[in-house]
Amino acid sequence: MTAHGSIGPGQATMTRIFPDSARVAFTAAYPDRATPLTHGLVGHPLLSLEALADLAERMLQGSVEYNLGALPLGVRPDDTPTNGLTPGETIRTIETNGSWAVLKNVERDPTYGALLDQVLAELEPLVARRTGPMLHREAFIFLSSPGSVTPFHMDPEHNILLQIRGAKTMTVFPARDEELVPPRKSEDFHNGGHRNLVWQDGFMAQGIPVLLEPGDAIHVPVKAPHFVRNGPAVSVSLSVTWRSERSVAEGELHSFNALLRRWKMPVGTVSARPEKQVARRFVYRVMRKLGA
Ligand SMILES: [Fe+2]
Repeated sequence: MTAHGSIGPGQATMTRIFPDSARVAFTAAYPDRATPLTHGLVGHPLLSLEALADLAERMLQGSVEYNLGALPLGVRPDDTPTNGLTPGETIRTIETNGSWAVLKNVERDPTYGALLDQVLAELEPLVARRTGPMLHREAFIFLSSPGSVTPFHMDPEHNILLQIRGAKTMTVFPARDEELVPPRKSEDFHNGGHRNLVWQDGFMAQGIPVLLEPGDAIHVPVKAPHFVRNGPAVSVSLSVTWRSERSVAEGELHSFNALLRRWKMPVGTVSARPEKQVARRFVYRVMRKLGA
């Protein structure tokens, strides 16, 4: 029996992607802690290199991001280079081209949208109890060459990364640590600033390296900094993400602080439960409506 196929002629069924042990681990960690999980999507036909190259070719320009892989841990946003290949070529030759590629918002393709729905449906009841409805659900597919590095960065969504092919080590750092992500960086980030963070070697002691092999997954909390080193083979990973009232509120409060700082007014604290900071969020929304 596969995790995504049928169990026999005439017995088509939707089997589970996350086993009980993964659901227990996710429930214990969500939304604040990173935790390893396991999944059953390895070998899924939609996640082969051929299928992904075809997908990249039919995706909108701008939905595929690809770059050289041999980069240091810290890359300034303006210095990110490109590899000179088309998205489809990048994926078909990824074993030798030294690149990484991200297929963004693959849920816009109906077949991949159905896959995202299948993955998230299993977690939705658990998520809803902690952070309310899953908002703005998206899926990304990451491909990378042997040895490539995705630099130190953070992402604005609740995220589960599912390793499909090859191995990679994600080193995850705690969210909400202002030494790793200074408040001004958060303000800039929520106003369209780059996701890459300034790396310092002294940060390494706070990182937890998690080896991801096919069938492994990891829950990465909102804005938990991380970097990724690919193993010795081509890597394919699926990232499923969603927002929540909490993650939206955090963005609003940092954007509000950016406004206040620009006006040389005192900025406010963004708490661990920003969705409860109703008054500040209300003021920010009114100011936005007024064109601030
Ligand atoms: Fe990331």
